[in-house]
Amino acid sequence: MKNSILLLLVLELFGCLTLASTFTPHSKSYFAQLSLRVKERRDKKGDPCKKIDQRTNTPFISKSNHMTLSSKVRSTDSKQLEDKSGLRIIISGAPASGKGTQCEMIKEKYDVVHLSTGDMLRAAVAARTDVGIQAKDYMDSGNLVPDDVIIGIVRDRLNEDDCKQKGWLLDGFPRTAAQADALAEAGVCVDCFIFLNVADEALVDRVVGRRTDPLTGKIYHMTYSPPEDEDITARLTQRSDDTEEKVKVRLAQFHANVDAVKGKYSDIAIDIDGSAKPTDVTSAISLAIEAQVFS
Ligand code: AP5
Ligand code: MG
Repeated sequence: MKNSILLLLVLELFGCLTLASTFTPHSKSYFAQLSLRVKERRDKKGDPCKKIDQRTNTPFISKSNHMTLSSKVRSTDSKQLEDKSGLRIIISGAPASGKGTQCEMIKEKYDVVHLSTGDMLRAAVAARTDVGIQAKDYMDSGNLVPDDVIIGIVRDRLNEDDCKQKGWLLDGFPRTAAQADALAEAGVCVDCFIFLNVADEALVDRVVGRRTDPLTGKIYHMTYSPPEDEDITARLTQRSDDTEEKVKVRLAQFHANVDAVKGKYSDIAIDIDGSAKPTDVTSAISLAIEAQVFS
């Protein structure tokens, strides 16, 4: 109730009272109106991915990666990925900054498909697929898997019907400039780039205390958000890369790439303080997304 009132006030601020008065969040009409707004905004502002490099007559990407990445993207993909009206959100941040925790809430609120590249890769490792076999050693050591292993997986997944129809929430991708360029080259357009800011000192503590419920996928922390009952506690699992030693490697990888990735989305970036309470972080993200989409 409190959140709804706050949302109404913010929407009014952005001149969207008509929209706000016609829906309640999570209702079908809310999603329909949201989708309409997203479409209108794209029509009005122009789709950044449709900007064409006049010299090469291809979608614009940075020159440094053009030659290496163009071979990885089929030209038909650009067309297939253009026709969507659901929200397309990237959530980024350091290891344990709260991406997965926030995605649980954002995906419900905006009815989008949640795609975590970490989860996709862990599933591939568990199923011993070719991708899993290639990724395992990198993940176990806390290093990033090579760009050419992950780019194809994400591109193909975004091209599936559910993502095209509902929109998506991309968690943990892109993590390098080359991955961001590959997205742009595939014609993937993004509405918001959310970045969760959390100081490194807080992250180690979050990593070592994290547990996951294999039944529901819910993320817990033994101190900050402990499981609700003993049954859940008994079945919780801990990720093999959630150790103090490995998080140092993961953090180094993050810091080596973060500026380059953020730089690719400076016009749509939203910086959020990820050190606040999870519910406060969610509220800040919602307000920022709606301000951006309805502006
Ligand atoms: P991935 O699984 O994506 O790991 P990550 O980026 O290191 O992020 P995490 O999942 O660890 O953290 P999170 O931000 O989701 O935090 P969470 O919400 O769980 O990737 C794993 C590996 O796969 C990589 O190292 C790499 O090898 C590979 N990989 C994946 N994508 C790749 C790519 N694109 N390219 C190359 N390689 C790739 O929260 C963490 C803990 O904090 C939880 O216990 C939670 O309860 C707690 N918490 C959350 N929010 C708060 C809060 N506000 N206050 C207090 N505690 C909180
Ligand atoms: Mg995660």
